[in-house]
Amino acid sequence: MKIAFSKPSVPAEGAIAVGVLEGKVLLPTALSLDVAAKGGLARAIAASRFEGKKGQTLMLLAPAGLTLSRVLLVGLGKAKEIDVQGAQTFGGTVVAQLQSSGEAEVAIAVDAIEGSPLATSEFAVQAAFGARLRSYRFDKYMTKQKKEDKPSLKRINLLAEAFATAKTAFAAVDKVADGVLFTRDMVSEPANVIHPESLAELAQSLGDLGVEVEVLGEKQMKKLGMGALLGVGQGSDRESKLVVMRWQGAAKKDEAPIAFIGKGVTFDSGGISIKPAGGMEDMKWDMAGAGAVLGVLKALAGRKAKVNAIGVVGLVENMPSGTAQRPGDVVTSMSGQTIEVINTDAEGRLVLADALWYTQDRFKPKAMIDLATLTGAIIISLGHEYAGLFASDDKLADRLAAAGKAVGEQLWRLPLGEAYDKQIKSDIADMKNTGGREGGSITAAQFLKRFTNDVTWAHLDIAGMAWSKKDTATCPKGATAFGVRLLDRLVTDYYEDKGEK
Ligand code: BES
Ligand code: MN
Ligand code: ZN
Repeated sequence: MKIAFSKPSVPAEGAIAVGVLEGKVLLPTALSLDVAAKGGLARAIAASRFEGKKGQTLMLLAPAGLTLSRVLLVGLGKAKEIDVQGAQTFGGTVVAQLQSSGEAEVAIAVDAIEGSPLATSEFAVQAAFGARLRSYRFDKYMTKQKKEDKPSLKRINLLAEAFATAKTAFAAVDKVADGVLFTRDMVSEPANVIHPESLAELAQSLGDLGVEVEVLGEKQMKKLGMGALLGVGQGSDRESKLVVMRWQGAAKKDEAPIAFIGKGVTFDSGGISIKPAGGMEDMKWDMAGAGAVLGVLKALAGRKAKVNAIGVVGLVENMPSGTAQRPGDVVTSMSGQTIEVINTDAEGRLVLADALWYTQDRFKPKAMIDLATLTGAIIISLGHEYAGLFASDDKLADRLAAAGKAVGEQLWRLPLGEAYDKQIKSDIADMKNTGGREGGSITAAQFLKRFTNDVTWAHLDIAGMAWSKKDTATCPKGATAFGVRLLDRLVTDYYEDKGEK
């Protein structure tokens, strides 16, 4: 999708999309549509139930008095309620309506909206961002798509008086979109294509942007004593990997970094504690935490963020086989703590245990944030609206929640506490890897905390958010790349430039 910004003028042909405020279906004056055309549009609007409410659309084909093929009206709701998400939704809705319409190009009119808190240029930037995010498709394996189902839309032109400012501001936002789409691509791939080795290779591609990438194999991890992570991968024919990424963008190269750690289980069959067949295919998404970490590093490096950031992802495939780990096995983690593996399907925490310990031990980060599709229980708690947030530090929790709110990737904090420790007490080792059904997401987080060595840490349980079973305004169904925009925003607001505020 090609995105351009230019001075407002009505194109002679093709499609135009116009945002409309609730209750006042006025056509933007900047377009200087001739009166007859306005008359035609006004009649069509009057004949419909379109009122400019948020989410409403009205498509007018071949409107009288205009050479345009169509005018798409999109409701924006009340002016004073138009926010960043509203602007993104606008752009995304335009794409959703026109993507396979036969139109190759659409002009989007982004006039100053009186009474809106967003400046026109910002409105244009966010509409463009939403459009790009919604235009995402993962159809590379569709060999029999009908012509009329294939996307036709190739170009979006945002019409705004402040087009030059918008164009400049969009450059950085576009890099964030690159990160989001990179993540969506890798999360969407099936597990016969994305496995620890191929995902590690994909991470290597970040080297082109100036990210230093190291890949540790099983031999090196064994040497480091990563028995928890290695135990999960030992049933797979694929070699487990730990990928370490480093973006050094801060003025001071020795400034302590912020670290992102991702669960990268490229397929979670459950192992010997095998999952039921129904829905098991969804477990190709179980590397979405790692995917988000790769995506945020791509975004930060792409826009040359002034921050030192580390990404560490533990990549394993959890399979049952003659070499797989058994329920009851005891493994020794890199931290030296021993774990009784009660259920081989509680594997994410075993992977993160070593990835977290390694990260704090090697990099001494100012904060560590892990992302993981860790528990089904978080979906029972929060559904598909919020990811679970656990933190050892209130300030970090508040910052994450604020960043999430700002980008529309919402987090809800749940408790940690020593009282939960008794649920993961083992009879023969330092702890066991499951704590029963009660508070399942919390005992999982409490388990992770033991591998943070008291470094400022937060854990995002994204099991309910990593993929979506339905289209939204800015994301077609499938992988969402939840976390990429959130962490990019966290860095922008709290860790960039001046360092910690
Ligand atoms: N990857 C799953 C969690 C999951 C479930 C993510 C559904 C997305 C959708 C995780 O590895 C897992 O299997 N967790 C178990 C833990 C249990 C065995 C203690 C769970 O949630 O059932
Ligand atoms: Mn599992
Ligand atoms: Zn899993």
